[in-house]
Amino acid sequence: MDFQHSHSDNPRTSAIHPPEKHRIHESKLDYSNEPTPTRLLSNYIVHCHTPFNAEPQLPLLVNSGQITPADVFFKRNHGPIPDIALDDHKIFIGVQQNPQYYFNAESPAVEWKQLSMHDIMSKWPKTTITASLQCAGNRRDGLAAVKEVKGVIWGAGTTSTAVWSGPRLCDVLRDVAGVSSDMLHEMTRDFHVSFEADDHVHEDVCYGSSIPLRKAMDPAGDVILAYEMNGKALSRDHGFPLRVIVPGFIGARSVKYLQKILIQPQESMSFFQRHDYKILPPWVNHDNVDQSWDTAASLTEMNIQCVICTPTEQEVVASSKPVTIKGYAIAGGGRAVYRVEISTDGGHTWEPVDKMEQKPDKKSGMYWAWALWEKTVPRTNKSTEIIARAYDSSGNVQPEFPIWNYRGVMNNAWSRVHTLPALQHHM
Ligand code: MTE
Repeated sequence: MDFQHSHSDNPRTSAIHPPEKHRIHESKLDYSNEPTPTRLLSNYIVHCHTPFNAEPQLPLLVNSGQITPADVFFKRNHGPIPDIALDDHKIFIGVQQNPQYYFNAESPAVEWKQLSMHDIMSKWPKTTITASLQCAGNRRDGLAAVKEVKGVIWGAGTTSTAVWSGPRLCDVLRDVAGVSSDMLHEMTRDFHVSFEADDHVHEDVCYGSSIPLRKAMDPAGDVILAYEMNGKALSRDHGFPLRVIVPGFIGARSVKYLQKILIQPQESMSFFQRHDYKILPPWVNHDNVDQSWDTAASLTEMNIQCVICTPTEQEVVASSKPVTIKGYAIAGGGRAVYRVEISTDGGHTWEPVDKMEQKPDKKSGMYWAWALWEKTVPRTNKSTEIIARAYDSSGNVQPEFPIWNYRGVMNNAWSRVHTLPALQHHM
């Protein structure tokens, strides 16, 4: 595929550079053009309006079905939502060579190639995948209950599932940047692909993140550059006009408002790759966090997760009827949710759920989307603790108690809900 002819004024050899970005102070971020009227606020628990961070009510999330409508899908932002014109938007792709290959000379400057949204939408086959996104901070409230954590105190609603469409990143990188599809090629095996967004955040010049290049180049990794969500153009909240979808990984890697893709020998230098989204060791706290980031790995795949969505915590359940418990479960890295178990006696005995549905991707066979499950338990006239836990296809199981870490990420402790009996009327 030749990109030389696709840009009238910019042949391949000319110097095209992505626009320079500057860091903006938090107090100067401009929130005057948020897509507020398009949001169905009654569906959400809004933790913060600027930036907009909201999770759906859990019963609504699970009752919306296998595919979450965009106005129920959780929304996670670090800055103002950019207002990008489709026709003006450019995506820059470059390769930074490994300096170690150039013993006495400087490695060559990055040669950027420029793509329009028209290129993205017309030059490669449109691939559709159904994938759940889960924020690494999902259920942070459970860790905040143990000890102080840093971050938005999310409940269990920052997991949602959508149908995403766009070209495969492996095809784009092969054709535009010449990346080898041989998974054992030195670059494909060892490099990273970093993404930068066309937005402003206060922590860095823009939102950014990276994934190992081998995840991007694996055709069964199903990483796509999505311009559609649930059959429609992405909404501004979810990344219009283009975002990365990295199925099986924490949501932070699925960069929205995508502007720059750089293949590089090391992970992205972005704040969100290096100073966030890591499970810091338990001795790290507010006072020593700055020196500790390099001691923990950047998060990639999600861990095994399962959440009871109905009944809700402290819900009064009618004592005359059996109780139907509903929830979701998701495993990282394309693994299947193998089993969901319920206990109503504090975890002494367990029973399998009655119904569970999880579909693999038709082509790759990977499990990128959550499992929704249901179980009906007999009626009770006492306060009851319902517990759920899941196993994935590799035998990973959720821990009984939350494992505290200062950033409050990856909490997948057993999900517990306490129901109350209906008031007894004494004559
Ligand atoms: N991309 C940009 N440009 N800016 C962001 O703030 N947040 C990330 C990721 N991509 C973010 C981003 C995080 S932490 C998550 S969990 C997902 O987007 C959330 O995607 P959603 O808002 O579509 O649910």
